[in-house]
Amino acid sequence: MPATVIVGAQWGDEGKGKIVDLLAQHSDAVCRYQGGPNAGHTIVAEGETYKFHHVPSGILWGKICVLGAGCVVDPEVLVGELDGLESRGVSSEPVRISGNAHVVMPWHVALDRASERRLGELQIGTTRRGIGPAYADKAARLGIRVQDLLDPKILRQKIEVALGERNLWLERVYGARPLELETVAGRCEGFAARLRPYVADTSLLVHNALREGQTVLFEGAQGTLLDLDHGTYPFVTSSNPIAGAAATGVGIGPNRIDAVLGVTKAYVTRVGAGPFPTEIEGPDQARMRELGAEYGTTTGRERRCGWLDLVALRYAVRLNGITSLALTKLDVLSAFAELPVCTRYRLPDGSETVDFPARQSDFHHARPVYEALPGWLEPLEGVEEPSGLPRAARAYVELVERELEVEVSLIGTGAGRTEVLSHRAPV
Ligand code: GDP
Ligand code: IMO
Ligand code: MG
Repeated sequence: MPATVIVGAQWGDEGKGKIVDLLAQHSDAVCRYQGGPNAGHTIVAEGETYKFHHVPSGILWGKICVLGAGCVVDPEVLVGELDGLESRGVSSEPVRISGNAHVVMPWHVALDRASERRLGELQIGTTRRGIGPAYADKAARLGIRVQDLLDPKILRQKIEVALGERNLWLERVYGARPLELETVAGRCEGFAARLRPYVADTSLLVHNALREGQTVLFEGAQGTLLDLDHGTYPFVTSSNPIAGAAATGVGIGPNRIDAVLGVTKAYVTRVGAGPFPTEIEGPDQARMRELGAEYGTTTGRERRCGWLDLVALRYAVRLNGITSLALTKLDVLSAFAELPVCTRYRLPDGSETVDFPARQSDFHHARPVYEALPGWLEPLEGVEEPSGLPRAARAYVELVERELEVEVSLIGTGAGRTEVLSHRAPV
């Protein structure tokens, strides 16, 4: 398929990076369309581990890698990542950054931290990378864009205006230290010189690539349930990870998108606060965390672990128009004798639903109703195709397909690039 969105179908960390890397080898370009350095995408290729916060996961194959207008870019993180790639012998030359992407400025990071501190018990558990404040400034039209970095005069003016507002917040609301115009501007100018060669008209670039029949991947960050509009608000991120946002975030028409590949773990994880109906109670949670190495790529925090939630996944299929699924980390379930899968929620009024509750309070009080599937209790190492999976593992995958009426096209059996089974053509 020429244009495919790869979207997280849960609360992030589904293994999008690995799946994008896998598909990128047969693609021409990979575009991030939203989010910023809150993302952490891990790729394990030929024994080497790469962690990306900004750069799309096609870079290891030397493919054109776009950071679209819908992204927020922290210049320090991005420059660090570009330098890190170069030092490992990976060329950063194919990176293209939209001049319309917004810049995560130092006050965004300071405000994110201060706001979480003030919320105390009620905090969202953000990555503290300044994401919320950067998108808030964008919506308030106080934001600084990548193209502003390239013009020192405009940059200074814009920083001055923004600091006039945001220093008030830092000082008077949060009692934090204000930032100095000269320090901030000087720092930005340094990064600007380094980033200038990568800035491009990325909407036009993607448009032309698609017109020429090239294959383009759109790499989501975060996941469906962290979507600002449709996720578990307020415990969400400040952008739209869902597939529809690929069009706005890159600057192409929605009719250009051909397929949507949803990425889901064979269980569920969540980092940060917020409701999580299938969160495991008892020692199996820690066991799953250890087996799945469930620690955040960006913050190192423990990920909360739960059983597969088909109600939430059905919602993700709907919101994204998912045409097929990649089911990752099936190998992690090898250790469990019984595998509860949530097929419905019981609501406070006693009714049961297979559809995600539209009302926040219903979701907060929803109790999972499980169907218990037998485990397979054998490792999946060495399995080369889906038909070679243990019978119980095949039944697990088939339950997902049957309940969601979507094909599982890829199955993850390990972190390595080659540890994936291809059921059918992925998209
Ligand atoms: P992303 O944010 O969606 O790209 O996911 P992360 O990279 O944050 O987290 C997924 C983690 O699972 C990474 O450490 C991957 O290397 C790892 N991973 C991906 N697919 C599989 C799989 O099928 N099995 C196992 N065991 N690990 C996997
Ligand atoms: P990838 O792309 C998992 C979570 C944070 C927090 C909430 C808001 O690796 O899947 P933010 O810093 O965005 O304002 O935090 O969103 N979060 C993620 N969780 N994976 C991510 O990215 C995430 N990015 C943000 O933990 O709950
Ligand atoms: Mg991640």
